[in-house]
Amino acid sequence: MSNLTVITHPLVQHKLTLMRRKDASSNSFRRLLGELSQLMAYEVTRDMPLSPVQIETPLETMTGQMIDGKKLVLVSILRAGNGFLDGMLNVVPGARVGHIGLYRDPATLQAVEYYFKMPAGIDERDTIVVDPMLATGNSAVACMARLKQLKPRSIKFVCLLAVPEGIARLQQAHPDVSIFTAAIDRELNDHGYILPGLGDAGDRIFGTK
Ligand code: URA
Repeated sequence: MSNLTVITHPLVQHKLTLMRRKDASSNSFRRLLGELSQLMAYEVTRDMPLSPVQIETPLETMTGQMIDGKKLVLVSILRAGNGFLDGMLNVVPGARVGHIGLYRDPATLQAVEYYFKMPAGIDERDTIVVDPMLATGNSAVACMARLKQLKPRSIKFVCLLAVPEGIARLQQAHPDVSIFTAAIDRELNDHGYILPGLGDAGDRIFGTK
């Protein structure tokens, strides 16, 4: 599974364990997600292109290396993706942001689109799609199909937790999409929730349950 990266950094694993605990408040869940997404952004942006830039240090002129953040579009799958977005934007503040709204039909577990707004010129930009949970893979697959209509230069997908069936579904439908996760959990339950998981990410971020 060459396009799959599990980010095993101890800080990521430590914070993820704190988030999984059922007694973590929304406040601490959100804070931890913010911290985790910054740490994961470090790994996910590892191959971003650098351009030489001439600068003045207090002592002399030199050529430094800089990224062009505007060439990056962060795509949040609403609503839980927004919890991930803030941390990523802290690290790459120049990135553009797109949103896609997909809800999961509770009967079929299929993704239904209700919102789609992307920055212009995606065909000249790299995209990173964020959603904390890769469960059935239906939302991720639908998001990639929709995003590909705009022909982005590249697509990466970042989540906190994934399960083998979700990974397989995304890899089969979109083998060109690189997947980054902090953990691969055991399985889905009958309601499409990840086990052992962390519960409903959106509810835990926004305190809606
Ligand atoms: N979405 C969630 O928020 N949690 C899961 O366990 C699966 C999908």
